[in-house]
Amino acid sequence: MNVMLLGAPGAGKGTQAARIVEEFGLVHLSTGDILRKAVADGTPLGIEAKRHMDEGGLVPDDVVIGLVRERIMQPDAAERGVLFDGFPRTIPQAEALDEALSASGLALDAVVSVEVDPEAIVARITSRRQCRACGKIFNVISDGDLAACTECGGEVYQRDDDTEAVVRKRLDAYEAQTSKLVPYYAAQGTLRAVDGNRTPDEVYESVREALAEVG
Ligand code: AP5
Ligand code: MG
Repeated sequence: MNVMLLGAPGAGKGTQAARIVEEFGLVHLSTGDILRKAVADGTPLGIEAKRHMDEGGLVPDDVVIGLVRERIMQPDAAERGVLFDGFPRTIPQAEALDEALSASGLALDAVVSVEVDPEAIVARITSRRQCRACGKIFNVISDGDLAACTECGGEVYQRDDDTEAVVRKRLDAYEAQTSKLVPYYAAQGTLRAVDGNRTPDEVYESVREALAEVG
């Protein structure tokens, strides 16, 4: 099974992704996580990507498509299936993914669109914290202001792009580009909408129901 999580910044893609990969054993392919690792490692790709990420804009399609092609060509992607988180984000990325999957005899089975009221987004993102070591996602409002990760003891930090000013630009990029993927996948018949304005557990119940229809 190959699944994509679609949704605005802060919709809860990463939070739901952790649950999906744990239950279904899929490879978690988050382009945001791959880019943040490249930034932390100071690679040429990371230096290029950081400019766009800090401004709340999208990293160029050819860069991101190259990263994804490389990852889905690893044997475990076909064996276990892939959960795409934050990719694709533009129509050219979606078309490139369709081509890359069909060249390997694969397809996207479900696109789960997590829908959240825009007013909730800024508060969720500016109160997000994340573990630098294992990537676990927290929130100051529900988890308190943690210094160390509850899973692995790693350092808990705030992402550079989680300021209110940058979040608003990321939302603009979502509206201008990524929201066009909703009708794109609706036309393909793979779109499943889930109400993300509930607790993470309630949202996950709906995600499981959507995946049960295709799995
Ligand atoms: P990326 O890392 O993908 O960020 P994003 O899409 O902006 O989404 P977020 O990770 O901010 O939110 P999320 O939906 O995962 O929410 P989360 O579960 O963490 O991309 C970052 C940047 O990289 C982009 O801006 C771009 O520059 C670049 N990039 C990445 N991919 C790219 C691509 N394909 N093409 C071009 N550029 C690309 O939850 C957020 C908070 O809310 C957390 O604190 C969480 O605890 C809390 N929360 C989650 N669910 C709930 C709930 N149900 N109720 C209450 N709180 C909740
Ligand atoms: Mg995320």
